Amino acid sequence: MNAPLPAEVLKQHLIDPEICIRCNTCEETCPIKAISHDSNNYVVDPEICNGCMACVPPCPTGAIDNWRLMVRAEAYGVQEQLGWEELPGEKALPEMAAAAPAGDELDAPQPAAPAPSAAPGATVPPWSAAHPYVNLYTHKTPMTATVVGNYRVTGADTESDIHHIVLDFGELPFPVLEGQSIGILPPGADAQGRPHHARQYSLASPRDGERAGYNNLSLTVKRVTEDHAGAAAHGVCSNYLCDLAKNDKVQVIGPFGHTFLMPNHPRANLIMICTGTGSAPMRAMTERYRRRIETGENGRLLLFFGARTERELPYFGPLMKLPRDFIDINLALSREAGQPKRYVQDLIRDRAGAVRELLADRNTCIYVCGLKGMEVGVLDALHDVAVQAGQDWSILHDALRREGRLHFETY
Ligand code: A2P
Repeated sequence: MNAPLPAEVLKQHLIDPEICIRCNTCEETCPIKAISHDSNNYVVDPEICNGCMACVPPCPTGAIDNWRLMVRAEAYGVQEQLGWEELPGEKALPEMAAAAPAGDELDAPQPAAPAPSAAPGATVPPWSAAHPYVNLYTHKTPMTATVVGNYRVTGADTESDIHHIVLDFGELPFPVLEGQSIGILPPGADAQGRPHHARQYSLASPRDGERAGYNNLSLTVKRVTEDHAGAAAHGVCSNYLCDLAKNDKVQVIGPFGHTFLMPNHPRANLIMICTGTGSAPMRAMTERYRRRIETGENGRLLLFFGARTERELPYFGPLMKLPRDFIDINLALSREAGQPKRYVQDLIRDRAGAVRELLADRNTCIYVCGLKGMEVGVLDALHDVAVQAGQDWSILHDALRREGRLHFETY
């Protein structure tokens, strides 16, 4: 049982800089803006954090789940945390705090009421998801993988330079599930001389390998040459990855992610909504289904995929070769000459009948991956589809979240 803490003692919430992959999920999730970051670390402000726990389940690595009993006046401040390379050890509390609970009671605080859900998606996986391994390899113990493939999957004449990169783990274990991600440690150091931190990439291959039965996986990586505002910017890790040659060695950490996972039970339907490289987990899940097409276990697959043009849509050729009765493909092209601009949310509305039918089936899970900007548009479109069918979206949305059936991964 958690006894109340003396007023002068604080159960301080901290983020482990050695495990954190700087994915920004915690900062986005925190309902009271207690989390911030600089180019080095993500940190929790002890003056603001109320231990509500909203940020803990969505963290893909568990780096967020660290707590220290501290004399309140000596709590680690934001500036101090920003400079950390590792978490400080436990400190003994002075006598006045002796009444404070210790040992297993240092577990994370339990909020009296459920944490407010700031996230649009679920913080739990679907009930039938397989159990994922996470953090098998860390910054201190990375795995060395070998590049066995690297080729471009967008038209050579387009601005979108997107690569399909295959990494092999040889004889060493690296168990993964569709929807999980890995971290890549790019070589070299930043302007301050610190080693580059890991960058996170979703798997594009299913659990049994890019090539079935092989100990390998694939990533979908877009070469970053500009920032979100369109100004020139050199993506450290994406350029490193896109330039790799066969047989090069890469430092890998992970796997990460325990919620954006596919259902495992027969006849589960998937609605997949993505833009650009957000197609990686959709490719992984689709391929998992394709490999068991003969078993008759598959439910329906409904895909909404947004890209500027067909030639900038990663994997366009192989995608269009999939049988129409296996996957229902809807392409939203925003800059195709002679065609009106279309976003995935427009197509969700166009296909309201099919979406409604699947939404009505509790075997349906929805996955959204890609540009952050599409979150609101997709939620609005799902809302409209539900409301047109006479459903109360807030009740349905809550159920989808609670049952681990609506997942977002946006950046
Ligand atoms: P746009 O042509 O307006 O940029 P990118 O190639 O930059 O990764 O983008 C992938 C696709 O996502 C593009 O078609 C892009 O359209 C589209 N997109 C951009 N913003 C949104 C949004 N808010 N909602 C849905 N799709 C979007």
